[in-house]
Amino acid sequence: MMPSSQWARAHTNIALIKYWGKKDPTLMLPANDSLSLTLANFYTDTLVRFRADCPGDNLTIDGQPVSAGALTKVVRVLDEVRRRAGLTLPAQVISRNHVPTAAGLASSASGLAALAAAAAQAAGLHLTEQELSRIARHGSGSATRSVAGGFVRWYAGTDDASSYALPVAAAPALLQDIRVLAVIFSDQPKAIGSTAGMAQTVATSSYFPAWTERAERDLQALLPALAAGDFARVGAIAEGNALAMHALTWAAQPPFTYFLPATLALVQGIQAWRAAAPVPVYATVDAGPNVKLLTLADHVGAVQEWLAAHFPTARVVVTHAGPGIQYFPERKEPR
Ligand code: PMV
Repeated sequence: MMPSSQWARAHTNIALIKYWGKKDPTLMLPANDSLSLTLANFYTDTLVRFRADCPGDNLTIDGQPVSAGALTKVVRVLDEVRRRAGLTLPAQVISRNHVPTAAGLASSASGLAALAAAAAQAAGLHLTEQELSRIARHGSGSATRSVAGGFVRWYAGTDDASSYALPVAAAPALLQDIRVLAVIFSDQPKAIGSTAGMAQTVATSSYFPAWTERAERDLQALLPALAAGDFARVGAIAEGNALAMHALTWAAQPPFTYFLPATLALVQGIQAWRAAAPVPVYATVDAGPNVKLLTLADHVGAVQEWLAAHFPTARVVVTHAGPGIQYFPERKEPR
């Protein structure tokens, strides 16, 4: 069958149990299982065309051509699709990010998941979410989890076939009511990217063995809390797991941190407010200074007011649980 062209949309995700550290950087196998929530408002649309008249793989993001050097992750995903489909044609890739400017949310998860889905479909492969997540993994670890919607677990696995993501059962009310407020202090690129930060942590952090044990324990506690719809438990586990991940970087050599003073002020402020109010709101932080707050729909207004009073210059974007991969034919460019 001749390859065709295909648009796919994937949403970004926020990890409640973080992925931090690879046990096999070539196969992109993580040291620990991780678990995330796919987010509704932040996504990437990507079109892939395999065509003989392309001089080589090429990519534009929001209309801007991406240099050959920056294509490594994209080519890894395309190669995986070509290998499975028995194709040798180069690909033209057009990608549009719908992540609010400076939302502080990485578009690599949504971008590489959308790429995996569009490329597989364009190559005539009709794959399950599980299979697609394995392909997305070759582009970026967090992209593994962006193939599915809702709460998603990435099984670390022991080889290429066993490292994939699947949706996790959660109480329907929790999935419907959970809200994420992205609180943005800085849109500057981080000093240490996640790949380099992870590698440095794995190689030198004395806390690393303790981290993998902690992440496993947190995951085993989180699964029943999600199933029961126990938001306070979910939030407490997610906040503790994120702070344990950031403790790792302080114990690396040389030590480093993604926190800015405002990051710590917000995490501590939220903890104090939660204890006094009490309001169910919990913090999580990725490889950057911005904070994502987890709460329930009924409390979004109170959290926004508290943020306006205590962090008046921060930008705040509110979102909820989002879906897995969606497809659009080429002639129906998604809006
Ligand atoms: O896969 P990457 O390179 O986007 O790394 C993701 C790292 C964290 O966002 C900090 C944690 C996670 O599980 O998403």
